Amino acid sequence: MMDSTGAASESQDGNVSRSASAGRETDLGSDGQAVGTPTSDVLLSLRGISKHFGPVTALDGVDIEVPAGRVTALLGDNGAGKSTLIKVIAGIHEADHGDLYWNGERVQIRTPHDATALGVATVYQDLALCDNLDIVANMFLGVEVRRHGTLDETPMELTARETLAGLSVTSVRSIRQAVGSLSGGQRQSVAVARAVMGDAKLVIMDEPTAALGVSQTAMVLELIRRLAAGGIAVLVISHNLNDVFAVADRVAILHLGRLVSSGPASEYDRQSAVEIMTTGMLSERENGVHSAPARS
Ligand SMILES: Nc1ncnc2c1ncn2[C@@H]1O[C@H](COP(=O)(O)OP(=O)(O)OP(=O)(O)O)[C@@H](O)[C@H]1O
Ligand SMILES: [Mg+2]
Repeated sequence: MMDSTGAASESQDGNVSRSASAGRETDLGSDGQAVGTPTSDVLLSLRGISKHFGPVTALDGVDIEVPAGRVTALLGDNGAGKSTLIKVIAGIHEADHGDLYWNGERVQIRTPHDATALGVATVYQDLALCDNLDIVANMFLGVEVRRHGTLDETPMELTARETLAGLSVTSVRSIRQAVGSLSGGQRQSVAVARAVMGDAKLVIMDEPTAALGVSQTAMVLELIRRLAAGGIAVLVISHNLNDVFAVADRVAILHLGRLVSSGPASEYDRQSAVEIMTTGMLSERENGVHSAPARS
């Protein structure tokens, strides 16, 4: 779908097309999916989501598709509305306007419990882990398995071990190790394992590599890819465009609360992404894949 400004936009059925790719509607995106044809694997659709905080418009009519088995990067400058958007999906803020569709069905997400019940798992930047507790205790914090009133460690250890193994997290020496003694990447892995231990279908990660060094970042990016390879929809907020382009199948860019551009990651490069993030649009370029302004 194209609007009058020649903007990239997403249609009701999850199509993504953009002015610069007119005539390419049947091209395959980087993720091997037909661009511009209905995608059957859209897990979550946001339609016209708006959120105001008093006089501040944090989100203004945002439409986003989040497909299963793919990594979607949510980009935007400070204050663009990224955190607000994930809080709407996670049930922390309720949208003022707009609709959410889960597997094509309209849903209401009013509380974090509603989000969890659907299969939304959010890994916040601070991870909210308890350093003095070990990995098992952190993964089962608040959902401990009890037997005759006391903690039943064996099934919890088994599940923790299986979940970490399922994510190919092999660098952790012992699941009885205190989380405070883990590396940054390992801590992120434990937070992800805790998030996916239930029946997570969508994992949202806010700046998962912000505090990490090079090798730990690589480890977390690998983990993100594995989540998507396992069929989970992953929505990642990141300021690090190297990470974004290393891991994302799709890109969605917010500017001042509006979705100004979205599409396959292969249709963006660092320069175009930064330009859209900072100005909300893209100027004419000689050889870029974008030749028309994004929606402003
Ligand atoms: N609880 C709140 N009360 C009032 N205003 C808020 C609240 N939360 C967010 N805002 C405002 O909404 C806008 C979007 O904020 P948000 O935190 O979603 O941006 P962001 O894209 O996550 O930015 P950053 O990259 O800095 O984390 C900002 O103008 C912010 O000041
Ligand atoms: Mg934020």
